[in-house]
Amino acid sequence: MGFDLASTISNNAHRQGELHGAHVNPQFARVLRTIGFDKTYVRATGPYLWDDRGNQYLDFLGGYAVCNFGRNHPTIKKALSDYLALDLPTMVQFEAPLLSGLLAEELKRRVGRGLDYVFFTNSGAEGVEAAIKFAKCATGRPALLYAPKAFHGLSSGAVSLNGCPSFRDGFAPFLPECRMVAFDDLAALERALAAGDVAAFVIEPIQGKGVNLHSPGYLEAAARLCHRHGTLFVVDEVQTGIGRTGSFLAIDQEGSVEPDMVILSKALSGGYVPVGAVLVKSDVWKKVFSSLDRAIVHSSTFHQGAMAMTAGLAALAAYDEIDAAARAREMGALLKNGLEAMKPRFEMLKQIRQRGLMIGIEFGAPKSLLLRASWTATHALDKNLFAQAVVIPLMEDHRVICQVAGHELDVVKLIPPLVINESDVRWFLTAFEDVMTKLHRASSAVNLLARLGRNTMFGSQRGSDEVASK
Ligand SMILES: Cc1ncc(COP(=O)(O)O)c(C=O)c1O
Repeated sequence: MGFDLASTISNNAHRQGELHGAHVNPQFARVLRTIGFDKTYVRATGPYLWDDRGNQYLDFLGGYAVCNFGRNHPTIKKALSDYLALDLPTMVQFEAPLLSGLLAEELKRRVGRGLDYVFFTNSGAEGVEAAIKFAKCATGRPALLYAPKAFHGLSSGAVSLNGCPSFRDGFAPFLPECRMVAFDDLAALERALAAGDVAAFVIEPIQGKGVNLHSPGYLEAAARLCHRHGTLFVVDEVQTGIGRTGSFLAIDQEGSVEPDMVILSKALSGGYVPVGAVLVKSDVWKKVFSSLDRAIVHSSTFHQGAMAMTAGLAALAAYDEIDAAARAREMGALLKNGLEAMKPRFEMLKQIRQRGLMIGIEFGAPKSLLLRASWTATHALDKNLFAQAVVIPLMEDHRVICQVAGHELDVVKLIPPLVINESDVRWFLTAFEDVMTKLHRASSAVNLLARLGRNTMFGSQRGSDEVASK
C-alpha cells in the first residue's frame, strides 16, 4: 500500500507518450515523435542518459542549462537525501530560515559587485518578474528596455520583454512601455534612455536565442549609460550564470560591469529543485522593502523552501568540486577548435560562437550550385528546417541530444553539462562531422530532406524549435 515510486514507474512503462497526449500536451508529444526524441529514458548520470533498451545518449542540451554539474551529482544527491533524513521544517513562513541566509551569503560572496540582498524565486521567469517590479518601484518610472531576440521567460511580464515574435503571438496586450532597443548598439541605447522614463534595461550577457555575443566593452558601457540616465541595469544570467561561460557570471569576463540586479536560476537547482535568486543593490532594495509594513510586499509561498536552498548550497559546492568554470573554458575551447578545424571542409558551416560551454554553430548558404539548390529548397519549405536537419541525425544516428537555437535560425546550440570530458568532445565532433559530411553531399542532402519530410510536420504547423529552443 501507500506509494512506491519504483513500482509506479515500472507498472506504467511506455505510457508516457499516451499520457502526455491525453492529459498534458498533445502537441509536444507529437513534436517529440516527429523529430525522433520520443525516447524512454530510465537512468542518467553526468552528461549521459540511458534508454530502456540500454542505449547511451550524450546530452548536449543539459536540461536547458539546468544540469551544469551533470545529472545526479553525488554531492547534490547526498545533500538532498540528508535533507529528507533530517526531517527539517520548511516554509514555516514566520521565521528567518537558516538555509536561505546561508545561500544568500554564499551567492553574495561569489557575485560581489556591491549587490547586497538576495531575493529567492522558484524559476528564472519569476526572477525577471521580481526585477521588473523592483525596478519600477525603485525608480518610479514606467518603461523597460529589452533587445531583439531577448529571452527572459514566458510569464506575462517576462514575455513582454521577449524579442521573438514566435513567443509573443497571441498573448498581447503586453506590459505597457516595454520598448525594444537595437542589439549591441550604444547609440540606439542612448536615444532610448534619453526619454528619461526608463526604469531598467534588462539584458542577457549572451543571448540564448542564437548564442549572440555583444562586442567587447558593450556591456560595461551600456551599464554606465543606463546609470547616467537614472536607469537600472539588470543582467539576466539565468542561462549564462554559474560557470556556463567559463566564469561564475558571464559578466565576469566583461570588464567592470556594474549591474543593479543579477538574476540567477537554472543550474542553481543542482538539476533537482527549482530555484532562482535575484541579487539586488541595497538602494533598490530599500525602496521596495521600505518599511515594516512592506517587509513582504513582494514574496511567494515557496520562495525560500529548505529543499531548494539545500540544492542551491550543494550545487555551489559541486561547482567548486569540479572546478566548473575552468572545465567550461577547457572543454569549450576543445569543441571550438574541433569545429573551427571543420570549417574549410564544410562550406555551410559559417560561424562558431563560443564562450565556455555555450556554443552556437551557425550555418550559411553554400556557394556550390547543387548544394545551394538544396539549401534554397529547404528554406523555401520552412525556415526552421535546416538546423533540424542537423539536430535530427545527431540524435538518430549518433545519440547526441542538442537543440536548434531559436525560431527561424540556422543555428544549433550546445549547452552540455560542464562535466563533459575529452572523449565526450570527441563523441560530439565525430558525430557532427558525419552529419556535415552527409549534408554536404548533394544526394545525401536530398535524402536527408526526404527523411525530414517523412518525419516532420513543418509547414503545416510550427516546428519543434518553438518548444525545444529555450
Ligand atoms: C536568459 C533566461 N532568462 C529567463 C529564463 C526563464 O527561466 P524559467 O524557464 O526558469 O522561467 C530563461 C529560460 O530559458 C533564460 O534562458
